[in-house]
Amino acid sequence: MYGSVEDVIRSSIQKQGQITFAEFMEKALYWPGGGYYTKGSPIGFSGDYYTSPSTHPIFGALIAVQLFQMWQLMGRPKPFTIVEVGSGNGLLMRDLTQYLQYLPEGFSNNVEYVCVDKGEQNKTGRSTNRQSRSYSDIAEYQGQGIEGCVLSNELIDSFPVHRLQMKKGILRELYVTLRDGVFVEEEGALSTQELSDHFNQLGIKLNDGHVFEVNLNVSRWIKDVSQMLKRGYVITVDYGGMAGDIYSESNGQGTLTCFYRHVQTNNPYLHIGNQDITSQVNYTMLTKYGLGQGFVNKAYLSQREFLTNLGLPYFLKRLQALDTDYRTKLANRFSMLNLVSPEGFGEFKVLIQSKNVSNVELWCRKLGFEEMPILRELPMPMLTASHMPLLEGKYPHVGLELSDTWM
Ligand SMILES: C[S@@+](CC[C@H](N)C(=O)[O-])C[C@H]1O[C@@H](n2cnc3c(N)ncnc32)[C@H](O)[C@@H]1O
Repeated sequence: MYGSVEDVIRSSIQKQGQITFAEFMEKALYWPGGGYYTKGSPIGFSGDYYTSPSTHPIFGALIAVQLFQMWQLMGRPKPFTIVEVGSGNGLLMRDLTQYLQYLPEGFSNNVEYVCVDKGEQNKTGRSTNRQSRSYSDIAEYQGQGIEGCVLSNELIDSFPVHRLQMKKGILRELYVTLRDGVFVEEEGALSTQELSDHFNQLGIKLNDGHVFEVNLNVSRWIKDVSQMLKRGYVITVDYGGMAGDIYSESNGQGTLTCFYRHVQTNNPYLHIGNQDITSQVNYTMLTKYGLGQGFVNKAYLSQREFLTNLGLPYFLKRLQALDTDYRTKLANRFSMLNLVSPEGFGEFKVLIQSKNVSNVELWCRKLGFEEMPILRELPMPMLTASHMPLLEGKYPHVGLELSDTWM
């Protein structure tokens, strides 16, 4: 019987001598008996980090607006199935499905919302909404031939990755082992041919010593999505970039990042099972594999562009004119701006891929909110107790010290 995930990992290393970083990360995050994501919801004020859904409900609201247009473009199918994979504590599902009800033509009556998350504990949060169903993985869901949209926010950055290093023109893999009871890395031959195939497809050159991650699960993910989706869209929101950016010289030690109680560390061997481990998403591979599965690239935008084009500035203006107290306005404004600022989530990327749908431009691609009369009919999404109190966290006394003119 193992006490902790760290014991499990130590035991695997003792048996095998060394394990790949992907195996280490898979166990640290997802070991059923107590991996980081299996234990509970680490997102939010009391957790280790926060994400766009926990920042402000306008994130889910504007995605709902985009989904409405997609539904129209597809000829208003019923059901229009939204499969959110990596749905975590269910906050995006809650915000989004609530907002769907304000969209015209009875859109919400046509929507079926499916949450999929490996984290068992997250199920409690997910299953509270009457309109949604929840599953632990795509295989359990068994959704095939759906019409609608597969949606994810910060899913792919949490897939286990292999770590590689370029050594005198040869690719070597970094394995995890134990020396005198301490976790250390040692290099060796590649554990699978898939790694060099993946690298060759990137078509990039790396300097000697460059360390980088390879996320082999991306191709499996795209295949799964392709099997699931007969017609519709895939919206992927995450941090990362094209291969040239994430494998640039400035990332010469890789892009692996860990979060523990809102502090970023770069050591995956600390707080094992109690800290998040992520790496930047390689959008080049996501689009390449997508094309191979018959997807069309509809949009690749920063989150700032995506939310701005869908109307975030319009809602900022409306907030200013709202008949509510100044502190509420300030807190909402602060959180909304966090979604689009470079210090917040503004540089995250939004990739939209489509399959078997017409080639009409999506609203998120053009700055069209002035011409979107639909927005005028929609309510202003406001922070709730489930979202992060970002303003209070940063400026605890702001309500007392600033005047109304700050807005
Ligand atoms: C970084 S969290 C993001 C949660 C949520 N989307 C948000 O933005 O707050 C990543 C989530 O993806 C889930 N996850 C990772 N791999 C998964 C997979 N293959 N299938 C389903 N869920 C997965 C994890 O359990 C975790 O809840």
